[in-house]
Amino acid sequence: MCGITGCIGDQEAAPVLMRGLKRMEYRGYDSAGIALLNQNGIEIRKAKGKLDVLEAHIQGNMPQGSVGIGHTRWATHGEPSDVNAHPHTDMKGEIAVVHNGIIENYLKLKHWLISEGCEFVTETDTEVAAHLLNYYDGGDMLQTIYKVMSVLQGSFALGIISSRNPDSLYCVRKDSPLILAKTSGASFFASDISALLEHSREVYLLEDMDVACLTKGDIVIRDGFGKVVRREAMRVDWSLEAAEKGGFEHFMLKEIHEEPKALRDTLNSHLSQDGAAISQDEMPVGAEEARRLQKITILACGTACYAGMIGRMLFEKLARVPAEVDIASEFRYRDPIVSPGDLFIIVSQSGETLDSIAAMREAKRLGGRVIAITNVVGSSIAREADAVLYTWAGPEIAVASTKAYISQIMVLTLMALDLAQKRALITEEEAGEALEELKRIPQQIQSVLDQKEVIQRFAHKTFDYNSIFFMGRGLDYALAMEASLKLKEISYIHSEAYAAGELKHGTIALIEPGTQVVMMATQDALLEKTLNNIKEVKVRGAQVLAVVGEGVGGVAEEVEEVWYIPRTNPLFAPMVGIIPMQLYAYYVALEKGCDIDQPRNLAKSVTVE
Ligand code: M6R
Repeated sequence: MCGITGCIGDQEAAPVLMRGLKRMEYRGYDSAGIALLNQNGIEIRKAKGKLDVLEAHIQGNMPQGSVGIGHTRWATHGEPSDVNAHPHTDMKGEIAVVHNGIIENYLKLKHWLISEGCEFVTETDTEVAAHLLNYYDGGDMLQTIYKVMSVLQGSFALGIISSRNPDSLYCVRKDSPLILAKTSGASFFASDISALLEHSREVYLLEDMDVACLTKGDIVIRDGFGKVVRREAMRVDWSLEAAEKGGFEHFMLKEIHEEPKALRDTLNSHLSQDGAAISQDEMPVGAEEARRLQKITILACGTACYAGMIGRMLFEKLARVPAEVDIASEFRYRDPIVSPGDLFIIVSQSGETLDSIAAMREAKRLGGRVIAITNVVGSSIAREADAVLYTWAGPEIAVASTKAYISQIMVLTLMALDLAQKRALITEEEAGEALEELKRIPQQIQSVLDQKEVIQRFAHKTFDYNSIFFMGRGLDYALAMEASLKLKEISYIHSEAYAAGELKHGTIALIEPGTQVVMMATQDALLEKTLNNIKEVKVRGAQVLAVVGEGVGGVAEEVEEVWYIPRTNPLFAPMVGIIPMQLYAYYVALEKGCDIDQPRNLAKSVTVE
């Protein structure tokens, strides 16, 4: 949610912190701040608004110092304001803290600290950490940090500086990502690898309850018991450019254009060397388990959950395994029934979504086996799951997920095909043919991208709608859900997604002359029924845009606008069918002048409940 960073070295820290924050701004952007240690003590600059505001604020007045911490905020406790912006300090201003996560028992601690004489200036939960560090400081900062960690509940990654320990920088992790890097003369921490790439391609991932002490060019990590531990270095393959806009106006547009590559990379990474079969080194369900499989439960949030809905249908259609999808944030609160060995699939681009982590832990606690599908190597979900299948979409920076979504569907498709083969429902030859079809999808996506002007023109005509309805049947219903989410999150247009057959059970009351309806109709077998649904809304005055497979007749004459997508196996069509909808959402938001990569109220990685 928030992004935190810190550095200690020979160079001036403020510019380094600001560059790091820029790379993490997608994690939260309602305020930002930095704190520097220098001969005057701790100097803080912070401001409500995006990083540009802070940048303007410190122009010509950059705080000096080679030790510092920085923060970009997504507000949870206390409105976005200058005063609630991090870093926060103790009353003497000798300890400063940046925080990502939520301190759940902060109110209790705050009341107690007030009774001990502390004066609070912010509404944040974080401020208790700063006061506690001062309260317990007995001269040994490490011991103080352990003491504070023992009283804090919730999830937190903290970065800490203290004018009493000017040669060190500290950070701790509990249920919130934190990554370290060092060079010969400097050490760094950040919530995200992208903030560290300019310094090193070798990073160290902290584990839960780890405490790290950073000095110039050296890092000492201790586990939750205070024992010095070594954390394996992880090599980051993607380049700094991969996390930059590369000439596109927005990350989202760049990432949509990267979809053919993302799918190709994801597919190839899960195929045998000759590309003719699914690699068995990768697939986590063995033949015996596949045959015995009784049920699959997919747990995820948002877009990942909609990818899961597609996965559910593929598991049922191809592998004939009963499957369900659960919203991760609901799972643990509904007393789920899990039998030992039940199979769970957690889908998460970031691998750090707190609700998904909590659902995964609940599934494991109840005896389930968990397979993760994630885009981030070394993320919390990747590390805690029993097995991992990676999507190789590359860094996804725009808040609206695009290339990660279709890569998730690709991995789910491969899993479904693999299970179908192991359950003797399709032959090796049929699986091979399906793979050949999957290999053609990147090219088909490219041909949709090549016609983006048509979509842009339509967006220009329709961007001022107040409300849009998305509909579809079967896989198209899942697609409609994602199309609707994409539009609302970046353009702020109200939209609903409905199973087309469900419309007449209530929602059709909302259809009136001029209502815009988008009908996803990529499933030929359901076309006739979908056409009936188009007629139902048309006679009530709706304007309809339909997305159909090339060569499908009988739709164009029924609707105002039709977009054709290349034909593929209907089961794989969602990966192609979503592309025009992502572009439509993008161009509508562009027409409206919205902040596309950083939509209001949202953050890329939702690390709070
Ligand atoms: O990182 P995750 O895939 O776990 O994130 C899940 C959702 O928060 C995410 O998909 C969200 O819905 C996106 N903003 C959708 O574009």
